[in-house]
Amino acid sequence: MSRTQVGIVGAGPAGLTLGQLLHREGIETIILEDRSRHYVEHRVRAGVLEQGTVDLLTELGVGERMRREGMVHHGIELRFGGRGHRIPLSDLTGGRAITLYGQQEVVKDLIAARLESGAPLLFEVDDVGLHGVEDDHPVIRYRHDGAEDELACDVIAGCDGYHGICRPSLPDGVLTVYEREYPHAWLGILADVAPSTEELIYCHSDRGFALHSMRSPEVSRLYLQVDPDEDIADWPDERIWEELQRRFDTEDGWTLRSGPTLEKGITPMRSVVAEPMQHGRLYLAGDAVHIVPPTGAKGLNLAVSDVRYLAAALVEWYRSGDDSGLQAYTATCLRRVWRAQHFSQWMTSMLHRPQHDPGGYERRLQLAQLEYVCSSGAAAASLAENYVGWEPSPIPSRA
Ligand code: FAD
Ligand code: DHB
Repeated sequence: MSRTQVGIVGAGPAGLTLGQLLHREGIETIILEDRSRHYVEHRVRAGVLEQGTVDLLTELGVGERMRREGMVHHGIELRFGGRGHRIPLSDLTGGRAITLYGQQEVVKDLIAARLESGAPLLFEVDDVGLHGVEDDHPVIRYRHDGAEDELACDVIAGCDGYHGICRPSLPDGVLTVYEREYPHAWLGILADVAPSTEELIYCHSDRGFALHSMRSPEVSRLYLQVDPDEDIADWPDERIWEELQRRFDTEDGWTLRSGPTLEKGITPMRSVVAEPMQHGRLYLAGDAVHIVPPTGAKGLNLAVSDVRYLAAALVEWYRSGDDSGLQAYTATCLRRVWRAQHFSQWMTSMLHRPQHDPGGYERRLQLAQLEYVCSSGAAAASLAENYVGWEPSPIPSRA
């Protein structure tokens, strides 16, 4: 039997950031990851970092490569009806910005810092199981290198993503799950070609949604709305580029540069929140407890926000025995979580071609909303505030 203070399940952005936050405060952690290091460092996913995420990674001493290679953006384009409209994010948010830097690069930087610190991070663990979460002596059982081990912890942090084992290990009846399925999926490609745009383009078209993003001055990241049951085998590169060009087309003839694809895949879209985010000595964070559709680029940022609150509460508890931050963990996180839920489903419903829209009413509503966002300062400022990352402040009540 080994022992640690905080047992962390999952080496994604949530688990690795939590490990780093606690390590610098002298709190012992062990991170258990069921995949290989190579796998987690090459899994292509999100790319938009909010200002708060960038600031935290910098403060943690893992921001050096991100500062060099990340691309700071001060605006995004909304394209609809064959025309582009810029939302000046920084002008509307007192100078805040987003940074384009691949999730797997964040993960690489965090893993490098963890290994350098000498704190334990085990890859390719099997059969992870949680025990004693409801009493004061939680234990994680797992196998590593063919041997079984038991890890006694004060607290377990479930950072093992949507398909992990932490959330399902809670007894029936503890969690209330709120969810929404969408009749859409995203076909995403990474392509070895210079971006055709300086800023991200979120494009509404009669053929469906398309998004132009990027990873560097030489690598583009693009997404297409497709049906959830679509097979990637039916999408050879030429078909993807042709469809992207048609959706992004403008009145004055916009040209999309194409190139060899480095990676492609289809991701379903859903919204899920499980409440509460804690039970006994188990605290859930990130995708392990909530999922957003990717249209607002919130998933990764929310995962980082959860563990920032969790780390602060744990530090207080270890330092003074005060568990009020831990008790309030769910309530503290849920304000941002539900704001991001709303924003992500709002962006999704404004930009994706509806599955059923017999008379075209939904499409007209979308266009009305897009026109409003692009012509009202107040509406644009609200989009911008959410996009760069909303920080909750106290809700004023009447005196
Ligand atoms: P994860 O990154 O999922 O990390 C969880 C870790 O736990 C993983 O490394 C996993 O291998 C590990 N794990 C799982 N089970 C176990 C176990 N039993 N034992 C030990 N370890 C375990 N967001 C955006 O904003 N934009 C996007 O374009 C975007 N694209 C996405 C594409 C895909 C295919 C997916 C799945 C998600 C995407 N997201 C996107 C969401 C974003 O990537 C996530 O919100 C983010 O990864 C959440 O971080 P996390 O650390 O909570 O979870
Ligand atoms: C990217 C992903 C998103 O979900 C998004 O809204 C914008 C950009 C990206 O992968 O670059």
